[in-house]
Amino acid sequence: MPASFRAGYLPAMFEGRQRLQARARRFLSRFGRGPTAFMRVAYQVPRQVVLVTASHAGERALWPVDWHMPVGFEPPRYALAFGRDAHGTKLLLRAGCFVVNTIPAELEPIILEAGRRSGHDGDKLDALGLSTSPALFVEAPCLVAAIGRLECTVEDAREWGDRVLVVGRVQHAEEAPRDTATLHHEWRR
Ligand SMILES: Cc1cc2nc3c(=O)[nH]c(=O)nc-3n(C[C@H](O)[C@H](O)[C@H](O)COP(=O)(O)O)c2cc1C
Repeated sequence: MPASFRAGYLPAMFEGRQRLQARARRFLSRFGRGPTAFMRVAYQVPRQVVLVTASHAGERALWPVDWHMPVGFEPPRYALAFGRDAHGTKLLLRAGCFVVNTIPAELEPIILEAGRRSGHDGDKLDALGLSTSPALFVEAPCLVAAIGRLECTVEDAREWGDRVLVVGRVQHAEEAPRDTATLHHEWRR
């Protein structure tokens, strides 16, 4: 290594790094850190809430999800992060398919109730009085109240800590031509 490089460039890089770390520390002391900061940053823009539906061997599942996004155009793919031990996750993985239902904001009380209950305790679709119709391209129920839906088959599913990241291949997409706001969720803690 040339002497000039050792003498000038590396120490300058080191000092630059220290300055950046000090700035980061000042920033963190003003705005918080840790898991709460992670969630606040992840929810700086409110996240759209969808209801996922699945069915298998006569059992049905329904649950709200706001960790989701499109991950491909050709072919269309959609990714969602589900609780590893949740009833819906297990049923969806057995079924190999599911539906992402986008829902109008006025269904908020029902959506929150669907998030409080577990399918382990009985059929949530019945309990919440939600009407369904069969999906066209996969074996799963669709919500009649939905304003859009993605019918997906499971293309990939892998565990990441407490979540299962599922990548669905979108077999069919449909939207109801309705001028309705969708529900978005903020992190309020
Ligand atoms: C607004 C909202 C958003 C949610 N988003 C997610 C999510 O993205 N991923 C997840 O695993 N659980 C999410 N949940 C929690 C599940 O919906 C909840 O654990 C549900 O009761 C699981 O039901 P199950 O046991 O019948 O599968 C969310 C809950 C609410 C109310």
